[in-house]
Amino acid sequence: MAEIELKPEEFSLFRKYIYEKVGIALSDQKSTLVKGRLNKRLNQLNLTSFQAYYDYLISDTSGDELALFVSAISTNVTSFFREGAQWKWLEGYLDELIASKREKKIRIWSAGCSSGEEPYTILMFLQHHLSDFDQWDIKILATDISPKVLSHAMAGTYDAKGVEPLPKEIVLRSFEKIRFDNSVRYQIKPHLRSKVLFRLYNLVTDPFFFKNRFDMIFCRNVMIYFDDKTRHDLIGRFTTILPKGAPLFLGSSESLTTHRESLKLLGSSIYQRL
Ligand SMILES: C[S@@+](CC[C@H](N)C(=O)[O-])C[C@H]1O[C@@H](n2cnc3c(N)ncnc32)[C@H](O)[C@@H]1O
Repeated sequence: MAEIELKPEEFSLFRKYIYEKVGIALSDQKSTLVKGRLNKRLNQLNLTSFQAYYDYLISDTSGDELALFVSAISTNVTSFFREGAQWKWLEGYLDELIASKREKKIRIWSAGCSSGEEPYTILMFLQHHLSDFDQWDIKILATDISPKVLSHAMAGTYDAKGVEPLPKEIVLRSFEKIRFDNSVRYQIKPHLRSKVLFRLYNLVTDPFFFKNRFDMIFCRNVMIYFDDKTRHDLIGRFTTILPKGAPLFLGSSESLTTHRESLKLLGSSIYQRL
């Protein structure tokens, strides 16, 4: 299989398109990455040049190819209970939140949820800490740009490696063990799955239609590829749907340099709406 060359003018086309569509700013150094990661895709499609692939990409109105492209150049890596310090902090905050509620209703957005570990962790966490969990009306909105990771998330089935390190009590309460060929898989129990609304949603270009406010927003390890302007705009939109005091969780390597007047850093990449 011969490697297809990516010419500088072709790379410029991808760079402009990807920036406009998903806010990902590809530096010149990313040319080798795009070439390396996309060569296999060109071969699958029987295309012989990156120009032909570009034409294919921009003519695909379903957004599936764009999602594939984004997945190829970025990462969907995730895990249950990622960023341990944030869950520890949330234990204290949950008491405050519960005490402030007049209705037993919680709404949370997991923005850039990948294969679902994050929204399901939120539910496992709530189930563990709320003694009357079943009496609460809890909905998690979980969105991602990639249909592939979303379908994995909706199925809620994970291999043993990701699940077995979790505390036994949580595994027993939240998963059903299923045999798949010769291996063991774990599926999130239906009553938890039914509390998550999975949606395909591009955080950069899709309209911000949210009328309701969220008790908290998780947008962790998603903005790492965005440039400052895209990040700034998105955070600004988040602040419009976070009530006073509500937290915004970012990934541990992410920090905010703007919006200081509306978001205060509490530590561990947790920001509180002022
Ligand atoms: C590294 S994963 C993070 C998953 C999870 N939030 C976590 O921290 O474990 C980043 C996810 O962001 C999604 N993503 C990247 N750009 C996006 C965009 N413009 N709109 C929506 N999702 C996006 C990717 O598809 C990927 O699934």
